Amino acid sequence: DKCIAVVPAAGVGSRMAADRPKQYLTIAGKTILEHSVERLLSLPEIQHVVIVVSKTDPYFPTLPLANDPRITVVDGGAERVDSVFSGLAAINDDNAWVMVHDAARPCVRLDDLRQLMVAAQQSECGAILATPVRDTMKRAKVNEQDNVIDHTVDREQLWHALTPQMFRAGQLREALTTALAQDAVITDEASALEFCGYSPVLVKGRADNLKVTQPEDLALAEFYLQQLLK
Ligand code: CTP
Ligand code: MG
Repeated sequence: DKCIAVVPAAGVGSRMAADRPKQYLTIAGKTILEHSVERLLSLPEIQHVVIVVSKTDPYFPTLPLANDPRITVVDGGAERVDSVFSGLAAINDDNAWVMVHDAARPCVRLDDLRQLMVAAQQSECGAILATPVRDTMKRAKVNEQDNVIDHTVDREQLWHALTPQMFRAGQLREALTTALAQDAVITDEASALEFCGYSPVLVKGRADNLKVTQPEDLALAEFYLQQLLK
């Protein structure tokens, strides 16, 4: 099946604290956003990418991507979920598969994209890339001044949710609408579907598909990109 990518790129990058939003920082010869979008477009099933940018963004129009016929640009919102919602509004085929991928994850590998695509299309409602938790997990006691351990959480069933996350456009839009109307905490696409009673599939992806978040992530992302682009 064909698949449309939605790339939320309307954040300000407050934790990166750079002179511009982090998706416009250059690593390994290109902006982080360009790396992310080009990886998605290298999948033959993805022939169209909806990029969600801030209304006042002066950087996007300067990129070659701005004149690429495979790209649609839409305005973002205050929160990531609003930006994703805005991206979905540009897709009129409810039955189309959408792959939502953070602009800030430039190191995703083609193999993982392919695996996700196969898993989603075989699933009931969709799938996400994720990695099993590696560290011992602690739950802190509530309402204590200092951080004190309450107990160790069994990590057997714990995963880190990554992107891309792949769902049917209509189903994702509906789930986001329902979840937002009921004030559910929605930090990724899957959480909206979970809220509506669906069980998206976890596809084990690579841990180096990091979300560039803080300054120290830049060197790591550059290293991974150099490996990947060899
Ligand atoms: N994003 C978005 N619209 C928002 C907020 C975030 O499209 N209102 C996008 C970001 O551009 C990024 C992705 O969602 O590609 C993941 O968000 P995050 O890593 O939190 O990026 P920022 O919100 O920009 O960073 P910070 O939270 O440090 O400000
Ligand atoms: Mg953010």
